[in-house]
Amino acid sequence: MRKIAVAMAKGGVGKTTTAVNLAFGLSQLGHRVLLVDCDTQGQTSKFLGVNPKYGLYEFVTGRDKNGEYISRKDIIHPTRKNLWLIAGGIGLVELKNWLGEQPRDIRQTVLGNALLPKKGTLDYLIFDCAPGWDVLSVNILMAVDEVLCPVALQGPSLEGLKTFFGYLLSAQKLNSDLQLKYILPTMFDTRTRQSFEILKQLQKMFKRQICDPIHYNVRLSEAPSQGKTIFEYRSQAIGAEGYRKLIRRVDGDDDRKQ
Ligand SMILES: Nc1ncnc2c1ncn2[C@@H]1O[C@H](COP(=O)(O)OP(=O)(O)O)[C@@H](O)[C@H]1O
Ligand SMILES: [Mg+2]
Repeated sequence: MRKIAVAMAKGGVGKTTTAVNLAFGLSQLGHRVLLVDCDTQGQTSKFLGVNPKYGLYEFVTGRDKNGEYISRKDIIHPTRKNLWLIAGGIGLVELKNWLGEQPRDIRQTVLGNALLPKKGTLDYLIFDCAPGWDVLSVNILMAVDEVLCPVALQGPSLEGLKTFFGYLLSAQKLNSDLQLKYILPTMFDTRTRQSFEILKQLQKMFKRQICDPIHYNVRLSEAPSQGKTIFEYRSQAIGAEGYRKLIRRVDGDDDRKQ
């Protein structure tokens, strides 16, 4: 099972867009994919057009807010063929409090351990992360081996990357398997010089990790309001083409094929 965190210290850079479209694309190739929404904003459900009753709080604690036992099969929400979701949302605030109350020696690995039984039944576990750094982010970086980092080709995006590297370094001290596997340039606007300049810098800095950029594409911003992935909404859009390339690359790195 491959475990990938889609993470970056900044919001609005395309993390959720990437996590959702990557997860869907891999599921379409026949892989069994579980997407985990780790953001209190809970956008992943909206992007997929679903409204699960339970989410990550119930999954990790095993109970609902009233203390009633909840079965995991009622929490893992089927969204498409081969694609399941554990929802995020405001309940994650309580999850973070709960994690903070766990004994120090197990606090950072609770999430990974809760997801361990999924080994063997799944091909991909993909985490859609929140921008900040807290007990939940640490848990995610303890639970994965690979990080995919979307970087917007606009604004002060390299600053966000620097902050994120700080997070990553602290996490790598605790999880030696953790590697920055992909840098995905997003919001590539061919009309602006800034886009090309940031892209060039990224290509120089991350020769191995750099992926083909995802263009700025209004279709990508419209798809979530229809509860659809870009492939279901406009499969010919340039945004769909970009994500198709990413999916091919991630799938091509699958050890099981080599
Ligand atoms: N390549 C893109 N072109 C145009 N709009 C995009 C693109 N990627 C994402 N968006 C839109 O930008 C906003 C932020 O994207 P999102 O994936 O939610 O970022 P994050 O999860 O990092 O906060 C959303 O409204 C999304 O639909
Ligand atoms: Mg998001």
